[in-house]
Amino acid sequence: MVQIIDLQVDGMGMGTMSRLCPRVVSGSSHPVFSWRLSEGVQRGCRVVVASEPQKLTTPNLWDSGWCVTRNNLAFVYAGKPLTSLQRAYFQVFVELGDGRRIESEPFEFTIGLLSADDWHAKWLCADGFEHLVPAPAPYFRRRFSLSRPLRHALLFSTAKGLLELTVNGKRVDEHDFLPGWSDFRRQLQYTAYDVTHLLRDGDNLLGTILGDGWYVTSFPGYRRNVYGMVPAFQLQLELEYEDGQRERVVTDRTWRWSYGPILSSDIYEGESYDGRREMIDWLDCDFDDSAWKEPIELSSGEDSEKTLYARKRMPGVCKKMVLEPIGRKEPTAGVWIYDFGRVVAGRVRLTCDAPPNAEGLQAHISYAEVLNPDGSLYNVNFRNAVNRDSCVVRAGQNDWESRFTFRGFRYVQLENLPIQEFGVKNIQIQAVVLTSDLADAGTFSCGFQPLNQLAENIRSSMRGNLLEVPMDCPQRDERLGWTGDALYFFPTAMLLADGRNFFRKYLQDLRYAQRDDGAVSSVAPVVPGFLCGSPGYADALPLITWELFRQSGDVTILEENYDAIKRHLEYELAKSEDLILVGHLDHLSSSKLKTDTRLIGTVFFWRTAEIMAMMAKRLARSAEAEKYISLASRIRDAIHANFLSEDGVLKEQTQCGFALLFYFGLFDTDEQRKANAVCFKKLIRDNGNHLDTGFIGTAYLCPALVKAGLSEVACDLVLQRDYPSWLFEVDNGATTIWERWDSYHPDKGFASPVMNSFNHYANGAVGEFLFANIGGVSFQAVDDDGNVAPRVIFHVTPDVRIGSANFHLETPCGEAVSEWRLDGRCLQWHVRVPPNTVGIVDGSDDKPLAPGEYDFSFDT
Ligand code: BGC
Repeated sequence: MVQIIDLQVDGMGMGTMSRLCPRVVSGSSHPVFSWRLSEGVQRGCRVVVASEPQKLTTPNLWDSGWCVTRNNLAFVYAGKPLTSLQRAYFQVFVELGDGRRIESEPFEFTIGLLSADDWHAKWLCADGFEHLVPAPAPYFRRRFSLSRPLRHALLFSTAKGLLELTVNGKRVDEHDFLPGWSDFRRQLQYTAYDVTHLLRDGDNLLGTILGDGWYVTSFPGYRRNVYGMVPAFQLQLELEYEDGQRERVVTDRTWRWSYGPILSSDIYEGESYDGRREMIDWLDCDFDDSAWKEPIELSSGEDSEKTLYARKRMPGVCKKMVLEPIGRKEPTAGVWIYDFGRVVAGRVRLTCDAPPNAEGLQAHISYAEVLNPDGSLYNVNFRNAVNRDSCVVRAGQNDWESRFTFRGFRYVQLENLPIQEFGVKNIQIQAVVLTSDLADAGTFSCGFQPLNQLAENIRSSMRGNLLEVPMDCPQRDERLGWTGDALYFFPTAMLLADGRNFFRKYLQDLRYAQRDDGAVSSVAPVVPGFLCGSPGYADALPLITWELFRQSGDVTILEENYDAIKRHLEYELAKSEDLILVGHLDHLSSSKLKTDTRLIGTVFFWRTAEIMAMMAKRLARSAEAEKYISLASRIRDAIHANFLSEDGVLKEQTQCGFALLFYFGLFDTDEQRKANAVCFKKLIRDNGNHLDTGFIGTAYLCPALVKAGLSEVACDLVLQRDYPSWLFEVDNGATTIWERWDSYHPDKGFASPVMNSFNHYANGAVGEFLFANIGGVSFQAVDDDGNVAPRVIFHVTPDVRIGSANFHLETPCGEAVSEWRLDGRCLQWHVRVPPNTVGIVDGSDDKPLAPGEYDFSFDT
C-alpha cells in the first residue's frame, strides 16, 4: 500500500533536531511542509492545517485545495500568518499517478517565538566580568514548582556563548555547541524543545553551563571579543496547564550560579579542567545552592530589534563516533603518544582511576595530525592555536571530555599522568569524532581500492569541516567559514549528506556578512579583518543559493536571499571595468602560467548575473529578469571579446580557465566546444596527465572535462598517482583531504607550516565527479522553470581500470541507486529510481524512467 511518510516542517521531522525532545518547532509564520511517498508518483496534492487534529476535516487554519503538482518537497503554507506559540497540525492528501487518493497521518508542530517582543527572559551572566582572556565557565540553576497538571511545556534558549542545557538532570538535546555561531551582534539563533515529558509534579530544576564559544574566542591573529565581552544567555520555559492557564519560567535574578570544574574553555585555546571541583549533585532539586550567587542581568540593548532572533533549524554538533587508539608509543618516560589511525575533528575522552596521592595531578593533552620523522608531534602548522588541554584528576574514578572546544588530530600526546610513582590506573583515551549532525546521503564504492579510500577521505574531511559552519579546516587558528571553500565543496557535500538546512543557515551568515555597499566578506559568520567582495569567493552567496534551491525546491530560499544577491551583483558591477572584474586567484595552484584573475572574476560575475536573472524570473519579477538577462549576456560577450581568440578558443590556456568555461557552459557553438576540448585535453596530456589547478580550478576540472566530452581524461586525472594528484595523497597515507597537493612529500617532507593543513576539504570537491559521474547518480528537485519536479540524473563513466562502481544516494524522495560493472566490454548497469522522481539517463534521448528498478546492458 502506498503511504505518505517522513512528514516534515521546515525540513525538521520528529527527532531531527534532538532525539531527546523530538517535537517540531517552526520559526516561521509561513512554514514549509514536505513529505515522501513510499512508492509511486504524486500527480497532485492538498495540504490542510488546523488547530486540532479533529478539525482537519474542516480545516480552520488553511486548505490549499487540490493542486496539480509533483511538489512533495517544499509546499509553502499560504494561510493566515501563524503566530508565536500557536500549536497546529498539518495533513496532506496525495493523488497518485493512477488517480487513487491517499492521506497522511496528522503531523503536530508548534510555532516558536517569532518576534523579539515574545522574549520575556532577561540576559543573564555570572559576575559581569569581561572575558578578555579565557575564563571559567559558570554553572546556573533555577528550581521551580509545578502546582497543577501540565499539558504542554516548551523551552526556548539562546546564548552569546554556548549552553549545555538540562531539565531535571537530563540533557534536552544530545548535541553540543548550541546555539552555535552567528554574527551575534546582528543575529541570535535560538533552540526550542518540547520538554513536557521531562517535567514532573512538584519541584523541577533547570540547569545550564555557559561556555565562551565563538562569542569571545580568540580568532586568527588573536583577535578576541569580536562579537562581545561578556557571555550571557536567555532561557524561557512556556508552560501550559491542563486547565488552560499559562505560566512562564524565565532567566532572571532568581537564578543562582557558581563556578565549577571548567577553569577555562575556549575554541582556539582549549580547555582547562579541575576534576576536584566537580559538583556531582548540582542538577538535583535539593542540592544546597545557598553558597551560589545571584547572577547579573544584562540589558538587552540593541537585541530588541525584531529580526534578531532566528530559530536554529539545523541540529547541533554530534558525537559521530568514538575511536579507540590503534597504537601507543612512549617516546620518553611519562609521555604517551596515541595513534587513532585517522585524522578527525573532535576531542578526547580521558578516563582513569587515581589513587589518593595522585589527586591534583595535572594531565596535559596535546594534538597533531601528523608526526615528525622522530615520532614526535608535528603541530607547528596549528600556528597560534594553543595546542593543549589540561585536566587535573581527583582521587577515584575520572571521566573527562572537554565541552566547549574542539581539535583536529590523529595523534594525541598525554603527559604527566602516566608517571609510575603516582600509580594512576586504567588510563584510557578515546577520540570522540565531532561533526554537525547531518543525515548521511550518499555511499560510494568501486572496484579500485585507492578510489574508495579517496571517497572515504572526502567524507572524513567533510565531517571534520562541517562543524556548525562550513569551515576551511578544524585545527589551526583559522576554522572559519571561508566562502570559496564552502562554494567549491558544496556539490560534493550535498551528495554525501543532507545539507539543506545547514547551508541555508550558512547563507544567513553570508547575508549578515555583507557590508552596506554590497560586498560579502570572505568568511562568514563575519570576522573583521578579512577580504570583502572577492569575486569567486563572495559569489558563494548567489551560487549556493541557486544550487540549494535546485536541490531543495524551496522557493523561500530565493525570496530570503534575493535582495542580498542583488546588492552583491550591483557591487560587482560597480567594481567592474567594461564588465571585466578582477577575481580571487586560483588559490594554491601549481600552474606555471597563472590563470588570469580577470577571467576568474568575470566568469563568476557572469554566473551571478545569470542567477539573478533566473531568480527574478522564478519570483515573477519580470522587469528585473529582463534587466539581468541583458547584463548577463553583455558580460558573456565581454568574456568572449577579452579572453577568446577570433575563432573562439581560450587565449591564455590554463586548466583552470578551461574548467571554468566548460563547467559554466560559456562556449557558444559545438565547433567552439570541440576546438577548445582539443586544447583542454592537450594541456593535460602535455602535463603528463597531471592537474595543476588550485581551489577554484580543481573544483570544476573533472565535471568540466565531462561536459567537454573528455570523461576519459577526467578518469586519468583521478587515477593519477604521482604528485600532484588526489591518489598521491592517498598513497602517502592520507586519511583526509590535504590543503596542498604537497602538504607532505616523501622527498621534501612537510610543506611550510605557515599554511599547511591535513584536513581541508576544498580539493575534495572531486567528489562531485566521483559520485555523480563515476558512481552515477545525482539529484535535482526542480525543472528548468524552477518548479518542483524531482529527478535523479544517472551518468556513469565505465572505465576498465575501475571495473565497477556503486553509488547509493538517499535523496529527499527516497534512495536512488546506480550500480555498474564491466564484463569485458559489456556494461551491466542497475539503477533504481525513487518514488515521485523521474530518472534521466544523461546524454540519452530516451523517455524518463518511472520509479522502479532497471537493468541495462550495453556494449562500450
Ligand atoms: C584558508 C583557505 C582559503 C584561503 C583563501 C586560507 O587561509 O585556509 O582555505 O580559501 O585562505 O585565500
